[in-house]
Amino acid sequence: MKALILVGGFGTRLRPLTLSVPKPLVHFCNKPMILHQIEALVAVGVTEVVLAVNYQPEKMQAFLKEQASKLGIKITTSQETEPLGTAGPIKLAEPFLNDGEPFFVLNSDVSCEYPFEDMIAFQKKTNAAGVLMATPVEDPSKFGVILYEESGRIKDFVEKPKQFISRFINAGIYYLTPEVFDRIELRPTSIEKEVFPPMAADGKLYVMELKGFWADVGQPKDYLIGQSLKLNALSKRDPEALMAGERYTGNVMVHPTAKIGQGCSVGPDVVIGANCVIGDGTRIKGSTILPGTQIGMHSFIEKSIIGWESNIGSWVRIEENTVLGEDVTVKDEFHLHSSIVLPHKGVKSSLKPGTIVL
Ligand code: GDD
Ligand code: MG
Repeated sequence: MKALILVGGFGTRLRPLTLSVPKPLVHFCNKPMILHQIEALVAVGVTEVVLAVNYQPEKMQAFLKEQASKLGIKITTSQETEPLGTAGPIKLAEPFLNDGEPFFVLNSDVSCEYPFEDMIAFQKKTNAAGVLMATPVEDPSKFGVILYEESGRIKDFVEKPKQFISRFINAGIYYLTPEVFDRIELRPTSIEKEVFPPMAADGKLYVMELKGFWADVGQPKDYLIGQSLKLNALSKRDPEALMAGERYTGNVMVHPTAKIGQGCSVGPDVVIGANCVIGDGTRIKGSTILPGTQIGMHSFIEKSIIGWESNIGSWVRIEENTVLGEDVTVKDEFHLHSSIVLPHKGVKSSLKPGTIVL
């Protein structure tokens, strides 16, 4: 079985992290984002994965080669010379993808429990030309909204609706039959606007409701919300992956090579990466500390992402969706609030909310 992951552009919404590594390699719960999806695909028997990219994928090649050999699968990249949207890349990759069998297509910026087995069974049962996953959200206007019958047959698909029609949105996970290749032209095309609506009108498209959490992790705020949902799911499915003990509250993941000081209070909803060193008495909640970062004593980090190999002093306060890039230095006692700091910068004073250190 084969799969295509829509990896797309430069990940500008995840800057400054994506100034250091391509978005698919940004860690989410201590693992490159793309690897969560690839491993879930491999678990249901996918042996060939195509990553559809519209930039030069050099920075990812070594990583992909290593993962392919580890997982015993083939991973290829399909590079567009101009962005082909969400459908064009599927047509472009047809020579790799089309073996006469159905295949998976995933948006790369989503995280959930991937119910691929159920999708395969449902496609067989309904003989659908495509099966999509749907999930309810509070604000559907940012997404593709799906209207469907009780049987799961999709009546209509409306991308970014102006008026409220339903809370059930397209989760960005599809199982498609080769019939779709005939419905896509090789040009910049939106699968949501140009391919799904006519397929729905022909009664060929079915939907399943996703069980469990779903999150769009394409920007820092949503990334942290997605992280808390993923940790919560792990606490039920694989509690061993999380920390227990008096230093930890709620769901906390700490890489085995990280060192957490005496009297720290970590959690809920925190991920600490490989080789991080957290000084005594530091408090961290609702945040991600990416690998190799050092934090001094008695600092306070809340709802923030701290980039790789950064150096944070003591008595520092970092809060409210602050994102630090790779190798950022923050001296003792400074206060950072809702700020962005680009890679390799030194923070030389406290930062007012909304500051971007370039
Ligand atoms: N290769 C390639 N080329 N990939 C692309 C391109 C392109 O030109 N444009 C977008 N992508 C990838 C993105 O990287 C992402 O993984 C996926 O296609 C969807 O694009 P987004 O730009 O993230 O779309 P969205 O978030 O506004 O909406 C989509 O996702 C929602 C779920 O998060 C739609 O599929 C909605 O219907 C859906 O609800
Ligand atoms: Mg998106």
